[in-house]
Amino acid sequence: MSDETVLELRHIAVMPDEVLRMLAPQPGGVYVDGTLGAGGHSDLIGKIISNDVNDVSKSGYVISFDRDAKAVAVAKKRFAGTNVHPYHADYRDIDIALNQLGIRNVDGMLLDLGLSSDQLDDTERGFSFDANGDLDLRFDASEGQPMWEWLGFLTEERIADLIFQYGEERYSRRIARAIVKRRENRQPIRKANDLAQLVRRCVPHAPGKTRIDLATRTFQAMRIFVNDELGALEEFLKTAPARLNTGGRIAIISFHSLEDRIVKTAFRDNPSLNVLTPKPIGASDAEIGRNPRARSAKLRVAEKK
Ligand SMILES: C[S@@+](CC[C@H](N)C(=O)[O-])C[C@H]1O[C@@H](n2cnc3c(N)ncnc32)[C@H](O)[C@@H]1O
Repeated sequence: MSDETVLELRHIAVMPDEVLRMLAPQPGGVYVDGTLGAGGHSDLIGKIISNDVNDVSKSGYVISFDRDAKAVAVAKKRFAGTNVHPYHADYRDIDIALNQLGIRNVDGMLLDLGLSSDQLDDTERGFSFDANGDLDLRFDASEGQPMWEWLGFLTEERIADLIFQYGEERYSRRIARAIVKRRENRQPIRKANDLAQLVRRCVPHAPGKTRIDLATRTFQAMRIFVNDELGALEEFLKTAPARLNTGGRIAIISFHSLEDRIVKTAFRDNPSLNVLTPKPIGASDAEIGRNPRARSAKLRVAEKK
């Protein structure tokens, strides 16, 4: 993806109506979008808060973070001169980022977890199963190690565990064995399509269940592992509520049962928050029809007391 693809970004923001209804952004307010991506949600929030009909001198703004430098570069062009301000930062560091920006508290926060369709389409970063790019899978290529390097030294047991834990893949042991066998034969996994082919050989087709690629669960697990996605979410949930104004809301869209459980528990156990969604909100059938990615989305929202 180059910076010139501003108008071609493919990612469609999930549950836009539900997010706006539940986050209830107010004109003149200050909001954090911790997962900017293609900027769909930031744009919607920015438009709503840009004018206070009773006081035109008030203009709210959105501080939008992404770990992906490419996404931020594209968004900087798209949102130049608007009230959406993209920053290259990890949402787990929200405290540091807000301090650096001289912002004490905000009126609302949104996280829309996982990866964007534009990252999935990028053939050079390992997210796209059949691409010949390196199996990198990092959102921020300037930090940590690419997944193919991890696969060069993790034990077979550790590889199996991470595929099972983060991907809920029943055939995790078989996949880990095959990965380590390649390493022993001096043909370690390096490319995304290498891994996809290996996994498809290890996982049997379930009759009638052909909707998702057999490699999906393994790629998801490795992406969650390499980016420490659950760790980032836990850290955010510990620090972010303290930066909300009273009545401010925190909305999180997750796509994975482990993420949803972390959000549910952190909201419930934080005495400064009122949970507004006893049950998570899902996407409508109409939206799922238009955007299959919305199928597993779960939105939870809490309000600062
Ligand atoms: C599903 S997309 C967000 C899409 C966005 N809401 C939109 O409407 O276009 C998730 C984004 O979060 C980013 N991301 C994932 N983990 C992150 C983290 N810890 N800090 C900041 N951004 C992160 C990814 O790079 C990706 O661009």
